[in-house]
Amino acid sequence: MPQDTKNSQDQNLVHMDIRLIKSGAQYAYDLLDEYGNVVLEAYQEFTETLKKHLLAENIRYLYYNPAMKKSREGKASLPEHVVSEKLQGEVIENAKELLDFIRENMKTSSEKILTKTRVDASRRLVGKVLEEISERKEAIFNPLMKLKSLDEYDYLHSTNVSILGALLATRLDFSKDVQMAMGLGGLFHDIGKTSVARDILTRAKLSDEEFDVVKGHPHVGYKFVENNPHIKDLEKQIVLLHHERSDGNGYPFGFDMDHMLQKTPREVRLMSLCDVYSALVSERPYGRVFSSFEALRLMLNMVYAPYKTTHHFLPTDFRDFIRALGMSLNDGNFFLKSGDLVRLESGEVAVIEEMNRLYPLNPRVRIITGKDKQPLKRQVQVDLLKDYRSYIANVFEKSPETK
Ligand SMILES: [Fe+2]
Ligand SMILES: [Fe+2]
Repeated sequence: MPQDTKNSQDQNLVHMDIRLIKSGAQYAYDLLDEYGNVVLEAYQEFTETLKKHLLAENIRYLYYNPAMKKSREGKASLPEHVVSEKLQGEVIENAKELLDFIRENMKTSSEKILTKTRVDASRRLVGKVLEEISERKEAIFNPLMKLKSLDEYDYLHSTNVSILGALLATRLDFSKDVQMAMGLGGLFHDIGKTSVARDILTRAKLSDEEFDVVKGHPHVGYKFVENNPHIKDLEKQIVLLHHERSDGNGYPFGFDMDHMLQKTPREVRLMSLCDVYSALVSERPYGRVFSSFEALRLMLNMVYAPYKTTHHFLPTDFRDFIRALGMSLNDGNFFLKSGDLVRLESGEVAVIEEMNRLYPLNPRVRIITGKDKQPLKRQVQVDLLKDYRSYIANVFEKSPETK
C-alpha cells in the first residue's frame, strides 16, 4: 500500500549548501534544518561560528520556504495570490459562459457544444494561469469563496479547482502537458452538473432520488467529452473519475482500493483532493465553510489506514498534495502542531512532540496507546521520519486550542 512517505527533497522548499553561505549573510526567510527546526531566523546574520557548529553536527544543507518571505519586522509579508485578480475574473467569466451554454443547449450534440474554438479558448486561459503561476513562485492560493448568489457556485468552484490543479501539477514538476490537463480538467470536471436542475444543486437536503441525479454528473459530463477529439484522455478521466474514493464508496463505478490504484490515474486522484479542498473552504449551497486549517485536518482524517472502514484518499496522494501545497494553502502555517493527539496508521495513538516541516505526516511523536488500544506502561518516543511505512492517519480535535 502506501509506499515511501519521503522524498529526498521537498517540492516546496529551497535548499542551500551551508559551505557556500558567506558569513554576515542575511535572508528574508527563516532557515530550517532537515527536521524543519528554525536554525536561523529571518534577517539574523549567518556567522562563521554557526557554520562551524552546523558542519560539526554533520548538517550540510539549510532550507527555506519561498512562500514564507518575512518583512524586517518579522511578520510574514502577505504574498500575492498565485493568479492575478484580473486573470481569475477571466477564468470565472469563461467558466460561466461555458457552463451556461451547455445548460442551455443540453440537447445539442457534444461536438457542437465543446467546439474546437470553445475548448481552445479554455486552453488558452489555462495556459495564462500556468504562466502566472510560474512567475509567482512565492504566492499563496486563496480560493474564491464569496458567492453573490448560490447559482454562482459552479463557476467559482470550477475556477478554483482549475487553478489549484494547475498549481499542484506545477509544484509536483509534472510535464507541461499534464499541467495543462489538470488545469483544463479542473475547469471541465463538473460540466455534467449542468444536467442537474438548479433547484437540486442549490438545495441542502436532497431525497435519495435527487442525490442519485447529482451522482450522475461525472457520467453525464463524460458523455460530453468522450468522443471529443479536442479533449485529451487525462482530461476526460478527470471528468469521469473525480468522485471515486479509496473505500469503494465513490461514484460512478465505486472502485475499490485496487481499482483506484490501477484504473484511476494518480493525476486524477490528486484532482479529487483539489476538488474536495476547494469545496470545503468555499461558501456553497450545503455544509459550512471550513478554514484551510480545519479543511486539511478533515481531509487527513479521510486518508486510508488499515484500521479504517471509510476512507477517501490514498496516503501517498495526500502526502503529495500537502507537501506541494500545504503551506501555501494555510497562510504558511501547519495544519498539525506539537501537542496534537493523533492516530498512526498502525492504530497506535500518539502525541506530536515535534513537527517536521519537510514531512508533515511524519513528525516526532510520543506513543501513548498500543495497537491493542491499551495505554502503554512506558510511553515510547518515535521519529516517524525513520519508519517510512508509518504516517499520521487521524488527528483528534481534543481541546479548544486546537481550533
Ligand atoms: Fe463533481
Ligand atoms: Fe467539483
